[in-house]
Amino acid sequence: MTGRALDLSIADISEAYAGPIGALWELLMGEEIHVGGAGETDRLAALAGVKAGDHLLDICSALGGPARHLAAGYGCRVIGVDATAAMVREAERRTEKAGLVDRVSFRLGNALDLPFRGSTFDIVWGQDAWCYVTDRERLISEAGRVAKPGGILAFTDWVETGRMTDGEREALLSFMLFPTLETPGRYDALLARHGWEVTGYENLDQEFALALGRYRELVTGDLRAMIIEQIGQEMYTVALQGIAGWEQAAHEGKVGRGRWIARKAGP
Ligand SMILES: C[S@@+](CC[C@H](N)C(=O)[O-])C[C@H]1O[C@@H](n2cnc3c(N)ncnc32)[C@H](O)[C@@H]1O
Repeated sequence: MTGRALDLSIADISEAYAGPIGALWELLMGEEIHVGGAGETDRLAALAGVKAGDHLLDICSALGGPARHLAAGYGCRVIGVDATAAMVREAERRTEKAGLVDRVSFRLGNALDLPFRGSTFDIVWGQDAWCYVTDRERLISEAGRVAKPGGILAFTDWVETGRMTDGEREALLSFMLFPTLETPGRYDALLARHGWEVTGYENLDQEFALALGRYRELVTGDLRAMIIEQIGQEMYTVALQGIAGWEQAAHEGKVGRGRWIARKAGP
């Protein structure tokens, strides 16, 4: 962790995701709520070596878009875990509609106390969501507990990449409701401490800055009227300022995004 943590609990994050924040991010990103959409999921799947028959856990699965994409495209089984009941219900509804209930399911649960036995999953997965988790030491430890020996950890996340004042950091974290941000180096250290060998890392800072610019353009352009209708004028202004602030910080090299692949020791 860099700087002071925001005083946020899982209840604050779930309340936001059950309301207008969840709706806003789906409008901007689609039902795969991460930068890069389905193409990013395919990239991560290729690096993780996802294949038919794999048992994959998506930690912070939200609407389940990636889970359905992976099961339909790669023939794996996916369980998503998310702490927001409204997200889990909606993920289940969409999965039933997509006819994928035999391979995709969801559990209401906390990433800090995963409701699964040890050594269960071939692949533990996360996309642009672990920045919301209030104790990443515990999260990475839990991911290691539920992965099989030799299992793969595959994730992307938003990270702090450069110097900023406490005030700048607080503004960025408050808008996104992130308790803290890791740096890439701190993630590497966390992974090593919990028995994960990092086999691949990609710095995605440049495409992150461009993506934030696209979100800002959508907010002020094509989606403006729809966003105001769904979240109101006041929230619209907050959202625009927040996204523009992140875009500027990304262009200044203060925040970015990374993609990690790691392997748990074992056969
Ligand atoms: C950005 S969305 C995740 C997007 C999803 N990974 C995707 O690619 O579609 C963040 C999600 O994290 C969930 N979340 C945050 N903290 C959590 C925790 N400690 N345990 C489980 N879920 C959590 C929220 O409920 C929310 O649905």
